[in-house]
Amino acid sequence: MVIKNQKSFIKKLDVPIQFCGDKHMGNRSQVLVEKQKNKKEKTQGKTNTVEVFIMGKSYRVPAGLTIMKAIEYAGYRFIRSCGCRAGFCGACSTIYRIEDQQKLGFDLACQKLVEDKMYLVQLPFVPAVKAEYNIEKMKADESTLISIYPEIARCVSCNTCTKSCPQDIETMKYIQMAVRGDIDRCAEISFDCIQCGLCAMRCPADIKHYHVSQLARRLRGKYLDPRSKDLKKRLKEIIDKKYDAEIEKMMKSSKKDLEKQYTNRKIEAESDGDLGGD
Ligand code: SF4
Ligand code: SF4
Ligand code: FES
Repeated sequence: MVIKNQKSFIKKLDVPIQFCGDKHMGNRSQVLVEKQKNKKEKTQGKTNTVEVFIMGKSYRVPAGLTIMKAIEYAGYRFIRSCGCRAGFCGACSTIYRIEDQQKLGFDLACQKLVEDKMYLVQLPFVPAVKAEYNIEKMKADESTLISIYPEIARCVSCNTCTKSCPQDIETMKYIQMAVRGDIDRCAEISFDCIQCGLCAMRCPADIKHYHVSQLARRLRGKYLDPRSKDLKKRLKEIIDKKYDAEIEKMMKSSKKDLEKQYTNRKIEAESDGDLGGD
């Protein structure tokens, strides 16, 4: 077999290799053997750890930790930029860079696993400016979204926002719906948005995707969706304190009693056959 590129061949094999019969390879082969030896020692002796940099300082942390856990493992405590720890609240947007990779990485600290030579930076929040508006005085028509967020017209369809989204939302598509004035679809597609801002951080057109879609959902809820007859009824019951005595009683119940009440509860939508829409 003729090996044209010995370096990449060794990399693929990932085992120590010594070259014979090539007088020019003497020192190089020694270096390669040393490198492989060090790698083996690192993974075996140090129970599979990786090196990360927090505020520029090097820490060795166990592989398999999320960025959030690695930062805590290194001795830091989160007092902001951390909420649910489960990929739902969107508070933990993180920027990182892997050594020798030109591009910056963006992800949720509670979801992304650490990699070797990862340089980490935490943002306290994503600084996307939110427009001010009074939802009570608005109309839900084709020009509403673009009049409040005119920058959506600058979208260059690069799809970077969609690729950044940890929720797999078709982010570019909902922005295009907003440009077309389709409030209903914009709200529908963006329904699972957790407002993390990873899309906005990377958009070359400075669009604040999550603020745009939040407005679409507000407009849809207020002006486009059918009114729920049960919601109105239920709100009145709450205002009239209909459930206060029952809640008081539950607060005093034992755990066993609460479990019994939960198991025997009436599930209204199922038993009444009415989901509340008009
Ligand atoms: S990242 Fe910005 S410009 Fe690119 S597709 Fe998304 S909204 Fe459009
Ligand atoms: S649409 Fe943007 S803000 Fe919403 S979850 Fe996806 S990346 Fe985060
Ligand atoms: S802490 Fe809530 S999404 Fe990461």
